Parts: sequence; structure tokens; C-alpha cells
Amino acid sequence: MKKKYILGALACLGGVCLLSCNRRGLGEPEQKYVGVACYNESDAFVGELLTCFKEECEERKLALTIRDAAGSQRTQNDQVRELLEEGCNVLCVNLVDRTDPSEIIDMAREKGVQVIFFNREPVMEDLTQWDNLYYVGADAEQSGVMQGELAAQVVSEKDAMDRNQDGKIQYVILEGEMDHQDAIIRTESVTNTLEECGVVLERLSYGIANWSRVQAQNRMTQIIEQYPTEIELVLSNNDAMALGAVDAYKEKQYLKEEMPIFFGIDGIRPGLNAVKSAELAGTVYNNKEKQAEVMAELAYAIVKGKQSEEIGIESNQYIYIPYEKVTLENVSDFLADKNE
Ligand code: BGC
Ligand code: CA
Repeated sequence: MKKKYILGALACLGGVCLLSCNRRGLGEPEQKYVGVACYNESDAFVGELLTCFKEECEERKLALTIRDAAGSQRTQNDQVRELLEEGCNVLCVNLVDRTDPSEIIDMAREKGVQVIFFNREPVMEDLTQWDNLYYVGADAEQSGVMQGELAAQVVSEKDAMDRNQDGKIQYVILEGEMDHQDAIIRTESVTNTLEECGVVLERLSYGIANWSRVQAQNRMTQIIEQYPTEIELVLSNNDAMALGAVDAYKEKQYLKEEMPIFFGIDGIRPGLNAVKSAELAGTVYNNKEKQAEVMAELAYAIVKGKQSEEIGIESNQYIYIPYEKVTLENVSDFLADKNE
């Protein structure tokens, strides 16, 4: 089913909410706060997203408590239980295991606390268990398609990508966590898109590097040893791993012209800088500012007592923020507007 993101409904919430009353009634503590459960704060993209979210919450005078599960769903369940016991008024959850939100949903439901999942997308059967559950993120397929289009563009412009002139592009793909919607879907849609654009691909190797720059560097180092000169293109499910791949070539003292062409996704600060210095040929902007703003807007509506029927997201509770293509031509706009 095609899901849509609806921002219009949210845009007007700010004003309306001021008028609504607190459902928890008199006698309850006045302090409203947002409990945030994060899968792993060492994740570069999630770290930047949380920084934006903190700012958005400050602007709305929402108090915030952030817990980091460091990659364990068990730990996260315990942290959510604590946040609920401490009396948080809304939960924002970045699931460790996106296929396993049941315990969190049950606990929240019992306390009547609404949940905004973000970045790690629950499946529809889980999200539709209760009306007061939401997801804020982005459409994974769109990012893969855009990355594919960016790469196809370079292939068509520069004969140079097909270095051995065999009419095929020899490539390596670096993938995020195995069960993550963004890893599975980006990998599939980027290669499909390239093929639809008429590019003949030959996959030499791949690596699962769990979104991590260091893991990607290690894996890429092994792949380079196997294919020292053959790789023409490196497609990465995110910027951090694309940068890890560049690190591997640099460590091995390759010159820029001997390296393949690299593409990432996210537009994290180091990724944008790498596009600016042409180390990455392009990336796809995962709009963390907008995601954070929508999450805060929604959290604000909830702590002001809104229930899902008043919030009215006509999109099966999923809100998707569009991606944008970033290349050398427009990277300065992103560095200036979005990250300063
Ligand atoms: C981002 C990755 C990040 C992951 C974490 C993805 O949307 O592109 O960089 O590591 O989310 O869940
Ligand atoms: Ca070739």
C-alpha cells in the first residue's frame, strides 16, 4: 500500500493545541515531558537527528529524557518501562529491533501514553495495533531510487566510470543492518534503478557493515585486497559507510584517480563535506531537521492532550519526509541552511 506523509494537518497543530486542556486532569504534575528511547547513540545519523530534536523540544518548552539502549532490545524495553514509571507524557522510540515493538506497545497502552516511533520503521501490523501509535521517518525506496539516478547520471556523463571499457560497471555495495528497512530496500532499489536507466552492472562483492564507518573500512579493506583495481563504483546504504570505504582506499595510499566513485545516503555533516570536496560523488539527504520538527510538533500536540482522532494523520499513522538529491552543484545549500 502506498503511504503518504501528511504535513498539512500537523502544521496547524501548534496553534490549536494551546487551547486544549490537559487530559490527565487536576492533581497530576504539571511538568510535561517526552521520553526518548534511542537504539544506539553512537549512530552518526541518529546522533544528528537527536540534536535537532532537542532544539525543537527546547523551542516548545518540552522537557526531554533520552535513554540509549546501545543495541539491546531488552535494555530498551527496561528503559521504556522506567520512562513510563517516571511519568513521561509521550514516548519517542527508535526501536533496536524494528520487528519487536510489542512489549513497548503493551506497556505504553496500559498507561495510555502515545508513542511516536522514528527512523526504524515498525511493520504495519504492529503500528495499527493501536490508534495512538505513529511513525516518523522517510520512504526507503525513494532514497534508493535517488541514489541510483545520481549514479546513472555520472555513468552517462563520464566515460571514466567504466574504467576497463567493458560496457559494464563493476560495483561493490555496502549494506546497513540486515533487518533494517533502509538497508533491504535501498540495496534493492538502487540497483533496480541503475538497471532501469540502462546501466549494465556487475556486482563484485558486498559487505554488511551495520551503518558503521569503521566496520565499512574493515570490510572494504578486505574487498580491495581481492579486487585491487577492478572496482568502479561503491554504493553505500549510508554516508558513514561510504566514508569508511574512502578511508580504506586512503589508508592503502590510492590516489584519487585510482579510486572508484562513491555514493552515500543521509547528508550527515561529514558526508556533505565529502561531497563538497568531491570525495563522494553524491548523497541523498535524509531530512533530519524536518523529521525532528514533525516529531516535536506531534509530541507537543500529544502532551497538550490530543488523541489520534484530533491529530488526524490520514496516512495509516505513517509520516514520511521526502529525501533530496545532493551533488557538488547544490551541496552548499545543504551545508548553509540545514546544518548551521
Ligand atoms: C540512516 C542510517 C542510520 C540508520 C539507523 C538510516 O535511516 O540512513 O545512517 O544508521 O537509519 O537506524
Ligand atoms: Ca567496467
